[in-house]
Amino acid sequence: MSNQTEFPNLHILDHPLIQHKLTHMRKVDTSTKTFRQLLREIALLMGYEITRELPVSFEEIETPICKMNAPIIQGRKLAVVPILRAGLGMADGLIELMPSARIGHIGMYRDPKTHLPVEYLVKLPEVEGRTFILVDPMLATGNSAVAAIDVLNKHGVQDKDIRFMALVAAPEGVRVFQEAHPDVQVYTAGLDEKLNEKAYIVPGLGDAGDRLFGTR
Ligand code: URA
Repeated sequence: MSNQTEFPNLHILDHPLIQHKLTHMRKVDTSTKTFRQLLREIALLMGYEITRELPVSFEEIETPICKMNAPIIQGRKLAVVPILRAGLGMADGLIELMPSARIGHIGMYRDPKTHLPVEYLVKLPEVEGRTFILVDPMLATGNSAVAAIDVLNKHGVQDKDIRFMALVAAPEGVRVFQEAHPDVQVYTAGLDEKLNEKAYIVPGLGDAGDRLFGTR
């Protein structure tokens, strides 16, 4: 895992398996089926890293040999929240890793003219004592990510209890995000070069939602 000094809250997950899978996702001729499968697999691998600091409690269990106090993660205390719709593809991998986690949804689309996020659905689990992992494959302008964190804040979730996971990020988006929510740690598989005039990440991988669901 590497860290950019300009972005102290950004963690780049540069594990070779993650990077290899991301390369295949970026290819223009990768099929919807493969894209979907790779996104799930990368999310699972990223989930392994971002859950490294989760607190564990101890439970007395019995092995075939003896009793012991063994560590467990309180799965009920986690929430995975995809930003719809592309976030759903990443949520799948995380839920496979943490099957007891609660699942929230934040529905947001990007206005094609203003590029600003428009919220259309918010459904969240009980927030008390819970860590929230917010997921969206593309951290582009940063506007949707900031708006989604604002939504979580409005529902009582503090920034320190949120982690944001994006497959690919643009420097412009990371900057916007960091200024708005400096206490939220951001995890990504790739920090790309820039945004283009249509606010797509360059080199990026195109429209993540369309590639995931086979739409256009
Ligand atoms: N959303 C996407 O799906 N792709 C981008 O490059 C930017 C935003």
